[in-house]
Amino acid sequence: MSESARNVVIVGANRGIGLEFVKQYVSSGARVVALCRKASDALRALDCEIIEGVDASDDAIVHNLATQLPVEHIDILIHNAGILKGDSFPDLDFDNMKQHFDVNSLGPLRIILGALTKLGKGSKVGIVSSRVGSIDDNSSSNNYAYRVSKTAVNMVGKCLSIDLKEKGIAVALLHPGYVRTEMTNNSGNIEADEAAAGLIKRMDELSLETSGVFVHSNGESLPW
Ligand SMILES: NC(=O)c1ccc[n+]([C@@H]2O[C@H](COP(=O)([O-])OP(=O)(O)OC[C@H]3O[C@@H](n4cnc5c(N)ncnc54)[C@H](OP(=O)(O)O)[C@@H]3O)[C@@H](O)[C@H]2O)c1
Repeated sequence: MSESARNVVIVGANRGIGLEFVKQYVSSGARVVALCRKASDALRALDCEIIEGVDASDDAIVHNLATQLPVEHIDILIHNAGILKGDSFPDLDFDNMKQHFDVNSLGPLRIILGALTKLGKGSKVGIVSSRVGSIDDNSSSNNYAYRVSKTAVNMVGKCLSIDLKEKGIAVALLHPGYVRTEMTNNSGNIEADEAAAGLIKRMDELSLETSGVFVHSNGESLPW
């Protein structure tokens, strides 16, 4: 498919990996709608349409998002927005845990429900999760709030992949890698541009047949 035919919506687009998604989809010729709470100068400098004031923890977006989107049909929707505030056992803050569940687990569900009337046959949805949400892969513990919220969003995505299949919509759970962004205090193995490039390839590969995958930006299939 020609990139110029694609309408792409990125959520959490103002910095980090989300900003890189916007850059790369724009440079491929796609029409990109960038959703964020507040646009950054870097986002404003890109040739995209920006919708500010979109907070993934706001229930109202379930009802008012579709009317804000300037496209009739979304080809690719990527929910990238997320938070990480570290914790370790036994110093756990339950308000922090609830906030992670609200943003990281329920946020993608709100966005997808809000955009549902614009998703249909051939649409692809990517939810940026994390391999630290993998139960099988967990050998180091800590970050209870973040881990639990990403495990939960994996179930959200898996359920959606089943419920949206008959509408012709494919869903992927995406792990970007360990990426140098504000979230990691700029530690990591790769830069945001490499992570976004890998995830765009994974979205290109995604089909109804593979819907429900949990995949690393490098193409590795991840354990649940
Ligand atoms: N970096 C890594 O190594 C890594 C590894 C695995 C998974 N991930 C996941 O990758 C995604 C992007 O992470 P990143 O590293 O690029 O982090 P980042 O630089 O901290 O960016 C996080 C993005 O999420 C947005 N966001 C946070 N809370 C939001 C809310 N309530 N509503 C709307 N937007 C919100 C932020 O917007 P504001 O500027 O408004 O806060 C920002 O655009 C996250 O889902 C993260 O969990 C990252």
